[in-house]
Amino acid sequence: MTSLIAALPGDGIGPEVMRAGLAVLRAAAARHALDLRIEEAPFGGAALEALGAPLPPSTRDLCLDSSAVLLGAVGLPGPPPSDPALRPEQGLLDLRALLGVYANLRPIRPLPGACAASPLRQESLAGVDLIVVRELTGGIYFGDKREGDDAASDLCAYSRGEVERVVRCAARLARQRSGRLCSVDKANVLATSRLWRSATSRLIADEFPELELEHLLVDAAAMRLLTRAAGFDVLVTENMFGDILTDEASVLTGSLGMAPSASVGDGGKGLYEPIHGSAPDIAGQGLANPCGMILSVAMMLDLSLKAPQAARAVEAAVAGAVAQGVRTADIAGEGAAASTGQFTEAVLARLNRSGLRGPLVQYAG
Ligand code: IPM
Ligand code: MG
Repeated sequence: MTSLIAALPGDGIGPEVMRAGLAVLRAAAARHALDLRIEEAPFGGAALEALGAPLPPSTRDLCLDSSAVLLGAVGLPGPPPSDPALRPEQGLLDLRALLGVYANLRPIRPLPGACAASPLRQESLAGVDLIVVRELTGGIYFGDKREGDDAASDLCAYSRGEVERVVRCAARLARQRSGRLCSVDKANVLATSRLWRSATSRLIADEFPELELEHLLVDAAAMRLLTRAAGFDVLVTENMFGDILTDEASVLTGSLGMAPSASVGDGGKGLYEPIHGSAPDIAGQGLANPCGMILSVAMMLDLSLKAPQAARAVEAAVAGAVAQGVRTADIAGEGAAASTGQFTEAVLARLNRSGLRGPLVQYAG
């Protein structure tokens, strides 16, 4: 059966990393006999300029029809307008809500060869392999907003059900991994955090009594990510804390450009995007690190296309290229930097060499 994949390049470096991601996806599909149809659609600032809306109806319909959505990045340079209809980022929030992808999985796994670029001491990176499960369709991102010249407010609201479903997703992951789950909140100040904490404790006691559950305040979690990250396994937290903590955690990998993500809900459909933004300052120069995007493709192969072997092959190709010194400028250190296209070629060469039969796929960047 053919799986339809929606590809939304978006803004800034989005189109460059999308070209890299799609070349790898096509190569993996060819090697592992996956039947895919990939359709690109305008999104974010690019769609605003072309069609007057960040998530135009045609893109919305394509995403609803597809098995998985691959997304580059959104965001235009300059101050964000207050009218949400004119903000590329609003298109992303609307897309996450439309697809019902309430759980955003953000693994942080430093790769040998890349993490030397981290400003943190190398010994604090040893043994780090964690995953943040970020609630993605609720909280302050989606609450009522009032915006005036002299006063503004953003409502943060959660229901018990919204907390339970994302914590259940994180708990299932924790069960497959170390059996430890850390829930991050700000229960000493916020009402939503006290609900989060009580809902989490009850759910784990009722449905996952075998897990070891820890509650941690978000300020302490932010510090521990930089001092003792290897002690974490699965973290679960609300939308804005997850946004902030994962940019911070990406420092453990050497660069924000390394980190992938998968957003899932109750169906098999997923939204896959690197966690970085559109980086307009480096767009169009071949400087972007496509690792976050290519590793997001691996997550898509795993979770939506049920092709774990292909996913592992892609991950191995990325790790191999980085370990052998093929590195984009953000992680190259003193060494020579590869362009986005050269790095992608190196990944494709490793994938194309992997024992399975299938046509060679080249980078079309
Ligand atoms: C992310 C991004 C988005 C978010 C922006 C672009 C709206 O920072 O995916 O982490 O805040 O969720
Ligand atoms: Mg972010």
